[in-house]
Amino acid sequence: MDMTSPQTPMADWHMARAALEWQVELGATEAICDAPINRYAAPPKPAAPGAAHMDAPAPAPDPVAEAQALAAAAQTLEELHAAMDAFAHCELKLGARNLVFSDGRADARVMIVGEAPGRDEDRLGKPFVGEAGQLLDRMFAAIGMDRHAPDLARALYITNILPWRPPQNRDPSVDERAMLRPFVLRHIVLAAPDILVLMGRISAMTLLETSEGITRIRGQLRECLGRPAMPMLHPAYLLRNPAAKRDAWADLLALQAMLRTD
Ligand code: URA
Repeated sequence: MDMTSPQTPMADWHMARAALEWQVELGATEAICDAPINRYAAPPKPAAPGAAHMDAPAPAPDPVAEAQALAAAAQTLEELHAAMDAFAHCELKLGARNLVFSDGRADARVMIVGEAPGRDEDRLGKPFVGEAGQLLDRMFAAIGMDRHAPDLARALYITNILPWRPPQNRDPSVDERAMLRPFVLRHIVLAAPDILVLMGRISAMTLLETSEGITRIRGQLRECLGRPAMPMLHPAYLLRNPAAKRDAWADLLALQAMLRTD
């Protein structure tokens, strides 16, 4: 394909480039197929009129509907994990080493929903274990909370919108978020936390279905599936913008106060 063709929409060009970079990251060194393709061959003849109804192509799969059905059928977190593993429509899965499901205590009062695994999370199969994850642990330790705390009131349960790492940690596409959203919604229902923390822009956008900026809505009490949900600044953002740690601290204190008065 001529990527520089004036007819190629820019979005396609960027998607094709991201896909190529992903292949290179996976170790591809040759841009060839297993079998030769004759690009001069005549295009296949259109089907004869009347033949269409006999040989109608199968309807294209609807990944969102399939994700909704799989998620709804899961009655436990183990079943949800298995359902996500069986979901075949998200290409991120092909480039990921692990399905990153969750960490911490599923019965914790607070459930944190982040964005997506990065390189370290993909390698270890757990959310928030890289540099941003270490900052997240320190942030919550400052208000006495820990993902493995024996006391449920101090424990955390952690997951992400996406269970598979996007190539080069790029933002998830609208389609990817839409097809994986049913799984995270079911995850919230099954874990049934008292309070949700929506960690960062992608998490807030996906679960609150809003396009409002995270710096505007952080610290505000919103609602997701009938549960209180507080958007917060993502620790990766705080690593890049240390001055914003003041705001994050204010939000942590607000969360702590909510847990005390609840
Ligand atoms: N950032 C996230 O949003 N989630 C992770 O698991 C790691 C980094």
